[in-house]
Amino acid sequence: EKGTYPHYMLKEIDEQPLVIRRLIQKYQDENGELTIDNEIVQAMNEADRIYIIACGTSYHAGLVGKQFIEKWANIPVEVHIASEFSYNMPLLSEKPLFIYISQSGETADSRAVLVRTKELGYKALTITNVPGSTLSREADYTLLLHAGPEIAVASTKAYTAQLAVLAILAVVTAKAKGLDVTIDLVKELGIVANAMETLCDAKGEMEAIVREYLATTRNCFFIGRAVDFYVCLEGALKLKEISYIQAEGFAGGELKHGTIALIENGTPVIALATQEHVNLSIRGNVKEVVARGANPCIISMKGLETEEDRYVIPAVHPMLTPLVSVVPLQLIAYYAALHRGCDVDKPRNLAKSVTVE
Ligand code: F6R
Repeated sequence: EKGTYPHYMLKEIDEQPLVIRRLIQKYQDENGELTIDNEIVQAMNEADRIYIIACGTSYHAGLVGKQFIEKWANIPVEVHIASEFSYNMPLLSEKPLFIYISQSGETADSRAVLVRTKELGYKALTITNVPGSTLSREADYTLLLHAGPEIAVASTKAYTAQLAVLAILAVVTAKAKGLDVTIDLVKELGIVANAMETLCDAKGEMEAIVREYLATTRNCFFIGRAVDFYVCLEGALKLKEISYIQAEGFAGGELKHGTIALIENGTPVIALATQEHVNLSIRGNVKEVVARGANPCIISMKGLETEEDRYVIPAVHPMLTPLVSVVPLQLIAYYAALHRGCDVDKPRNLAKSVTVE
């Protein structure tokens, strides 16, 4: 039930801190240590390469998950769009493990790949919000998102839950391998939940950004570097699917290779700047678009901010910024859709789970 909320999407955005706290509990043992089924951890550590298969928002979560698994657990990861993988299978490594990420657990494109990789004899892990869903039943292992039912077509809390579960999986796998992971993930996810709460309380700010940048625009660009780029892809998908504003996410460095031609006077460009090692270069990209007339909206993180920034998110662990930086983008999409009179929870042409290939 959406209770006093006008839309499920807003309710589900607001539930994110709670979902993260619930996940910490669900994946903790009696000593407060993060834990994952031993069989799954073993399958991770036996694999010489992990293939993440997903669609849409879940694919965007996979892109961030790759960073977690490669940087913490030291296992190479490829992330693939399910529909493309079906007819364009890459050369597989000797001992692959397949991870299917699917909120609904019913996505036909992902299932088609699962059927195929099972035929080939490869092990599969499904990360899903729905216990007993098709992808969960047909895989060898399941990790649950514990996000509660997600009703709005635009996925929000499932995305952040997917990131949290992937982070937990990566850290537990790394520890089982004896790798020296210094992050205290329980503590850092707690900090993430608090930061999400701050952002959920900043709705007025996000609504103001929408009025200032997106009131009448036909298009909008999101730019970021490193992991911010993946969040930009997600921010752009959210905005286009519910507000029908044409939106694209770009890697900051790619702009000059073509996209910059689209920048006109007043084009909104939302830039994420949460990563210290690329902070200067993304700000350089903002200057480039401003010189062509863009209307820039920089969303940065505490500690990296400058005076020109439109909004500064609270500081969190640099690997975990996507869980937090996505929240303002979800809210921006929500208010853009609302102000344009769109059906926020049921955008045109879309269904909650896509059960055809
Ligand atoms: C976007 C959205 C879709 C889904 C995609 C995969 O907000 O909801 O892009 O993420 O259809 O769905 P699942 O995760 O259920 O496999």
